[in-house]
Amino acid sequence: ETHTVTIEPLGREIECRDDQTILDACLRAGVWVPHSCTHGTCATCKVDVLDGDVDHGESSSFALMDFERDEGKTLLCCARPESDVTFEADLDVDEELEVFPVRDFTGTIIELEDIAKDIKRLKIELDDDLGFNAGQYMRVIIPGTDGIDRTWSMANSPTEQRIIEFQVRNVPGGVATDGWLFKDAAVGDELKLSGPYGKFVLRTWEEDKPIVMLGGGTGLAPLASMVKHALEDEAYEGHITLYAGGATAEHLYDVDYFRELEEEYEDQFTFHACTSEEAEGFRHGHVNTVMEEDFKTLSGYQGYMCGSPVMVEACLKSFMGKRLFPRDIFHEDFFNEA
Ligand code: FES
Repeated sequence: ETHTVTIEPLGREIECRDDQTILDACLRAGVWVPHSCTHGTCATCKVDVLDGDVDHGESSSFALMDFERDEGKTLLCCARPESDVTFEADLDVDEELEVFPVRDFTGTIIELEDIAKDIKRLKIELDDDLGFNAGQYMRVIIPGTDGIDRTWSMANSPTEQRIIEFQVRNVPGGVATDGWLFKDAAVGDELKLSGPYGKFVLRTWEEDKPIVMLGGGTGLAPLASMVKHALEDEAYEGHITLYAGGATAEHLYDVDYFRELEEEYEDQFTFHACTSEEAEGFRHGHVNTVMEEDFKTLSGYQGYMCGSPVMVEACLKSFMGKRLFPRDIFHEDFFNEA
């Protein structure tokens, strides 16, 4: 059965099946609504239901508490309509942002390579062109599972629309990584995926503000996409300083690539590879502490960061300590690295 969902304050109406999440229906209709984890844990997609009934599905009890359910709140990524529904969301989306509707794709693995300790590069050829903004991610259905999915950010430039690249860290015991990608996955395998998702994008329309980027582990992936897009596609003329962090030098990847970019674009791009354990040729410390040594203030800058929720939290404090306004700080948290 299909119900009509009305999105306020836009007043836009879309159709949503009763077995489909409202988030999915919105994104497929090309209507941007807030979301991040897409799995009922981060609460980014929490909205007010003004009218109608929803099934809260797998919303976790801490992301959507009982009293909030009573107050008529729901998580769009879990909610399925039980009647026609009207909800109101904070649609604070930049007018400049191009919204690419979410679509389904079939992909074939064309490259799978170890690039650092416990990290693989996965290249997938899609059956159709994928339009996306640098920094966005896909949901990948893990083959051999009962529809279990993971969200991985594209590391390639959005001008490359057929072959996408993910960078994935192994998590011991993780179904998607230990149980598949680092075990049985092979070149030639087919998989199902959908996207693009996410609002963590290179803000090409704010070229007047220099950017500082902090990436922890494979949190480098979306930042890599942004850097490639900015420099190689000339999508952004402002200056970018990128900090990539890992536990040891063996945990870092694409260091030479970024160092070469730094040479080629010396007026526009600065790169620092940082290790928590001291290592020759690398900056010593977490990305945020190394960044703190380099900048007295970040007033007038924009801050981008991506990594584990703990890392993002620490970087947020460092950015604020350097007088960056929250409105100039953008982040993606990797919730489901498993
Ligand atoms: Fe819905 Fe995270 S809780 S996107």
